Amino acid sequence: MESELKAPSDVWIPPTEGVKYIGSKLRMLPYIVRIIHSLPHVRTVLDGFAGTTRVSQALYQLGFEVTCNDLAAWSEVFGRCYLQADRPEAYYRELIDHLNSLPPRAGWFADTYGSLPKSPFQYANLCKLDAVREEISSLWLDPLDESVLLTSLMLGLNRVDNTLGHFSSYLSSWSKRSYRELFLPLPRLLNISLPRKKSEVLRGDVFQAVEGRRFDVAYFDPPYGSNNEKMPPSRVRYAAYYHFWTSVVLNDRPQVFGRAGRRADTRDLVSASPFEEYRTDGEGRHVAMETLRELVARTDARYILLSYSSGGRVTKQELLELLLENGHLLQVMEVNCRKNVMAHMTWTNLWSADDGGHQEYLFLIEKQ
Ligand SMILES: C[S@@+](CC[C@H](N)C(=O)[O-])C[C@H]1O[C@@H](n2cnc3c(N)ncnc32)[C@H](O)[C@@H]1O
Repeated sequence: MESELKAPSDVWIPPTEGVKYIGSKLRMLPYIVRIIHSLPHVRTVLDGFAGTTRVSQALYQLGFEVTCNDLAAWSEVFGRCYLQADRPEAYYRELIDHLNSLPPRAGWFADTYGSLPKSPFQYANLCKLDAVREEISSLWLDPLDESVLLTSLMLGLNRVDNTLGHFSSYLSSWSKRSYRELFLPLPRLLNISLPRKKSEVLRGDVFQAVEGRRFDVAYFDPPYGSNNEKMPPSRVRYAAYYHFWTSVVLNDRPQVFGRAGRRADTRDLVSASPFEEYRTDGEGRHVAMETLRELVARTDARYILLSYSSGGRVTKQELLELLLENGHLLQVMEVNCRKNVMAHMTWTNLWSADDGGHQEYLFLIEKQ
């Protein structure tokens, strides 16, 4: 039977930070946390497609040993900053105060994005970004300390952007917040405010992250693309949507193309993740589905928790079949984030449920 329940309130949901991100699980955190919290004898958790790292941040604060992984370079920066940076707050505060005091100076970002018909930031803030980014490089900090400053820079930029939450097009008339002066805040450093827990931050393909490692829980939130056939597939790839953060973090002044000034390495046929592949293989099977099937099979974890959003190319029935090949289904949860209402679902009503409207699902299996 389906039962409608209000969002859970009996577990502490730790605060997290992050940039605007399509597919961020900010609103799903209460549900994800509650499920993982309720499992017996869980110590180690993999967040295999960590994105903003919000799930990793929350689980880390609850005392789990977290391994945080994503393909994106900036996700690794967030992971290092929140889970691993370990100097006293005053050390970082002084550096950030110094960056905030720098005079703006035009460089690659201002030259590249200031000349586009529509821009993700006001020119003055692009100049400030240039000054700050160059200074961060010239400080030659170790990667953990540098990650705190880069996170601070991205959090600051995220508050003054002129976007709809991604960098594949920009607003035609300046957003109100874009007029604010770029200011770098001090990130919430979890590794210094809590009793230290082990953590691992990885940047790479999720298959490498699971290779040779064992976890109590593996949480997977892969990209599922869009089932909107009018959307060019290259546009719905994460690397293409968030190219700007990649350039901020790498500071590699890449060649860019198109109206949004996208990095050349995010062109249609490069840097595709098989999870974002919309095509079918020679036998008519979806490449993305088959990749997920292989991932679930190759993951050495007692439990696998999988996120799924309606509107992706893969259907929830397909997902369920794939999961059942590898374990026992313990729980399926459907959440309507807008109404903040969830339902526990059973096998039968899952198969008959209507896909209308935007729903988020969580599938929990215990591996065989
Ligand atoms: C739906 S988002 C995850 C959002 C994340 N749970 C959050 O709350 O921010 C999917 C993520 O998968 C990453 N990704 C895509 N292909 C990947 C792969 N092969 N291995 C690891 N990460 C991948 C993307 O960079 C993106 O950040």
